[in-house]
Amino acid sequence: MESSHNWLPKTVAALKAGELVALPTETVYGLAGNALSEESVRKIFDVKGRPLIDPLIVHIYDLKQVDQLAVISPQLELLAKHFWPGPLTIILKKKAIVPGLVTAGLDTVAIRMPKHPIMREVLKESKLPLAAPSANPFGYLSPTTAEHVESQLGEKISYVVDGGPCEIGIESTILDLTHKNGPRIVRPGPITEQMIYEATDITVATKERQAIAKDNSPQLAPGMLSQHYSPKTPLYLFEHGTAPEALPKDKKIAVIFNKRPSGSSSENAYWLSENGNSADVAHNLFETLHRMDHLSLDAIYLERASDSGIGKAINDRLERAQHKRRSA
Ligand code: TXA
Ligand code: MG
Repeated sequence: MESSHNWLPKTVAALKAGELVALPTETVYGLAGNALSEESVRKIFDVKGRPLIDPLIVHIYDLKQVDQLAVISPQLELLAKHFWPGPLTIILKKKAIVPGLVTAGLDTVAIRMPKHPIMREVLKESKLPLAAPSANPFGYLSPTTAEHVESQLGEKISYVVDGGPCEIGIESTILDLTHKNGPRIVRPGPITEQMIYEATDITVATKERQAIAKDNSPQLAPGMLSQHYSPKTPLYLFEHGTAPEALPKDKKIAVIFNKRPSGSSSENAYWLSENGNSADVAHNLFETLHRMDHLSLDAIYLERASDSGIGKAINDRLERAQHKRRSA
């Protein structure tokens, strides 16, 4: 873990030398490498155990840098004015300078201008566009603290810069501006279609869940795989505002609610917020699941979020994280 006074020049030098460094963003921790270096990008896939068909997000410091990498449109400029820096990733037509490895061979590239001051300083000082997926092994829970990254990937990377817990706690919204039928959200996140419409008048289609791709073609939807973001402990969901039914009596379990249950609660009950505020639920979701996953439980039961605002993004992650029967 890195928290010395000279972390910034050290990090810039490491990235310029082609190494990988895990960095905090406002959403989750990212595993960053120089997006223009094939060698660095290949390391990212290796370290995560990520299939090469799953493209990466490129993080940038300012709009000038986007121009280098992708085709800018008035729509992009309008969205950037309202939502950058922040948790909105935008898919644009890519320029030749971006290695095909970053985009899984697609002719589009996902770009995001993050808000976290540590990530921004690194982007500014290095002047490099940084490819950075979430800093977790492929398929596992996303990391929202430096300790999560350290325990999952610590031995495989140069180091983690510790910026404390991530403020938002779930990944950015991904908006595709290149689709022939108009802008559409391919991964729900903290920025919702209503927020986009209210700020910019841009109408956005939300893409309902796609079937799992059976072929090996690069996928336009992130975390496409229906099993993703998962703890090792089997996770079962129950409806928002209810209690789980028919819990097994002979098993070690945890039951996680959105808010503190009223009245006396059993000792295996946990909650993600005091009063059900969905920003708090998002903030604490992965952190709590990481903690529960270390308790050697037989099962985790978790209440779905309310299906509005950031709750939609929370439920998207939960549906992918829940236990699937093997035959699927
Ligand atoms: O909040 C975030 O977005 C975090 C932080 C670190 O910035 N990053 C993140 O990256 O969540 P990752 O790699 O875990 O998820 C990125 C998703 C991928 O699953 C991929 O499918 C999608 O973005 N993606 C990347 N490029 C794409 C493209 N050209 N077209 C469609 N989807 C793309
Ligand atoms: Mg990820």
